[in-house]
Amino acid sequence: MSTLNPVSAPAARPRLGLHVITWGCQMNAYDSARMADVLAPLGYAPAAAADGADMVILNTCHIREHATEKVFSELGRLRSLKEARARAGGRMVLAVAGCVAQAEGEEILRRAPYVDIVLGPQTYHRLPEMVARAARAGGAVIDTEFPPESKFDHLPEAASASPAGVSAFLSVQEGCDKFCSFCVVPYTRGAEVSRPAASILAEARRLVARGVREIVLLGQNVNAWHGEGVDGGVWGLARLIAALGEIPALTRIRYTTSHPSDMTDDLIAAHARVPALAPFLHLPVQSGSDRILAAMNRRHRAADYLRLIERLRAARGDLALSSDFIVGYPGESAADFAATLALIRATDFAQAFSFKYSPRPGTPAATAPNQVPEAEKAARLATLQEALGTQQRDFNAATIGRILPVLITGRGRHEGQIGGRSPYFQPVHLNGPAALIGREVDVVITAAGANSLAGRLHPAPEEFARA
Ligand code: 5AD
Ligand code: SF4
Repeated sequence: MSTLNPVSAPAARPRLGLHVITWGCQMNAYDSARMADVLAPLGYAPAAAADGADMVILNTCHIREHATEKVFSELGRLRSLKEARARAGGRMVLAVAGCVAQAEGEEILRRAPYVDIVLGPQTYHRLPEMVARAARAGGAVIDTEFPPESKFDHLPEAASASPAGVSAFLSVQEGCDKFCSFCVVPYTRGAEVSRPAASILAEARRLVARGVREIVLLGQNVNAWHGEGVDGGVWGLARLIAALGEIPALTRIRYTTSHPSDMTDDLIAAHARVPALAPFLHLPVQSGSDRILAAMNRRHRAADYLRLIERLRAARGDLALSSDFIVGYPGESAADFAATLALIRATDFAQAFSFKYSPRPGTPAATAPNQVPEAEKAARLATLQEALGTQQRDFNAATIGRILPVLITGRGRHEGQIGGRSPYFQPVHLNGPAALIGREVDVVITAAGANSLAGRLHPAPEEFARA
């Protein structure tokens, strides 16, 4: 009688459901996808819901208010699902990742002892090891170190079978050395680390081979990227973008988020020179008052920002700008706020994000004595958003009648509808065949709303089919 040789018979890998909940920035979205890649060899495949999943990861954000309380309330919900699964004879591994995990790891384990794994943004390449330890150990596993090895060197290639979409994020840089006095990022994400160009270019080529046509380079301070070049020298972001611009079929390149003081001459020139580099830039300014900019430790004045915008527009006339603003920073007077409104009027933003200042524990501004009352912050935010909203609507309305190249990224909400983005990052809806997904097509803009545009194919679909 022969017995099956257990060594030669490949063990059927159990299929385990992994549900990842992502809050916060695009970097977190990228990290969530990489955590799924790291866990795929262990048999984990995406599960649509936390209910019934074998593992749930809550990838958290710490940038603004109520971050920690929001985590505990979500953990309470997940705890019931975990208990229900245990009653049904299964097990749900519960992990908390991201910036709240980094900042409040011990507190999470104290208040939510049913959590199995707590990991920071720099250690997720060690997740398989943590899962194994969590299975063995009676208690929880915590890993919120800033390890000496870079996770970028230890990540597997993205699972090539999974669809990549038309637009993909690619993380090139992480962490921040700027220490703006309101911001937790330098504490939760650690010091600036740039990934080598060879590994970025290899990932970009793999993404393009899987159908990606737009790559968004991600970094907390992406324009501070200075990585090892493929020639062994140190490259800046402009050089990296030029190399990415050589990849055939990569239609569009974007990068986010940038700091004004790292906007180098060659990066400005790249906006004129690299055809694939989209004419859209997210460049946070935070405030238009020099006094507040100095208190924020932003390292530039309002006039420096305006001059920079002039130079960028000289390089690329149609460059659309986006920014971040904080109102009610400690000590912000009515005159400081007026200076921010003046900067907005002088610039004309296509899009912007604005926030009430929120004291973050451990940051210098949190303990400043002259905090602005909540009602004043709310009033200023409403005024600011009114001004920015008007600029955004005007920017959108100005595209009516124009023919814009739209990169089609997917189907629309209604039958026969498709959608994509203009070069200026505006969502565009139109009627057209799904076969156009992944292609850049000319679209006549026929209507504009506050947040998106509508248009029709140019030429019309029948002529398109003949073309
Ligand atoms: N309060 C309010 N907004 C903040 N941001 C960062 N930290 C804070 C804070 N403590 C905003 C900044 C930054 C964006 C990502 O979040 O505008 O550019
Ligand atoms: Fe935070 Fe950006 Fe300032 Fe860095 S540059 S500290 S990430 S706001």
